[in-house]
Amino acid sequence: MKITYLGHAGLSIEVANKHLVIDPFVTANDLAKHLNVNTIEADYILITHAHFDHIADVEVIAQRTGAKIVSNYEIFMHFSEKGFDGHPMSQGGSWQFDFGKVTYTNAVHGSSFQDGSYGGNPGGFLIETNEGTIYIAGDTALTYDMKLIPLMATLDLAIFPIGDNFTMGIDTAILASDFVACNKVLGYHYDTFDYIKIDHEEAKSKFSAKKKELILLDIGASINI
Ligand code: NI
Ligand code: MN
Repeated sequence: MKITYLGHAGLSIEVANKHLVIDPFVTANDLAKHLNVNTIEADYILITHAHFDHIADVEVIAQRTGAKIVSNYEIFMHFSEKGFDGHPMSQGGSWQFDFGKVTYTNAVHGSSFQDGSYGGNPGGFLIETNEGTIYIAGDTALTYDMKLIPLMATLDLAIFPIGDNFTMGIDTAILASDFVACNKVLGYHYDTFDYIKIDHEEAKSKFSAKKKELILLDIGASINI
């Protein structure tokens, strides 16, 4: 499994010869100007919630690639009414896709569209594949429900928002990594806006003090798990 950071909460995941895109926010992100949204490959676009900083590039990518949009029912319907193909889920539900099993997990956050219309409840994704298992928390507070994750799967990597203010911050992400029983964390949802700027070295050293690893990728950089 190869995971590429698209900036903010955006990820591109190559697994089982499929391309997954998570929460694409590239063209409107000043920090991701060097990425070309028109070359991002996608068989599936997974959306955690309807906030603008998670769906801004969904249509441009889905239009070109024909990718299936996987999200909660309300977000699925929003794009379905515009003619896009997709797969609706709700929290607690799992589906076996051709690349692996996806469970839509709980998140504590909001999920309205930019115009204020209802975007269902926010979520995250537990993705179990033959090439590894990851948990993408989505925008969320630290939540006790994260303790359910290790009852369902053994993680190779946890992906947590770490920018604070709108989501967990560094200290709560460290607690979250205990809750999900995974000491290897990829941070996302930081630096994009003034409210969520972090000190990278301080963040990493707080994790290493707890014998945990915090990975912060340059935008466009990848890791293999
Ligand atoms: Ni959000
Ligand atoms: Mn967000």
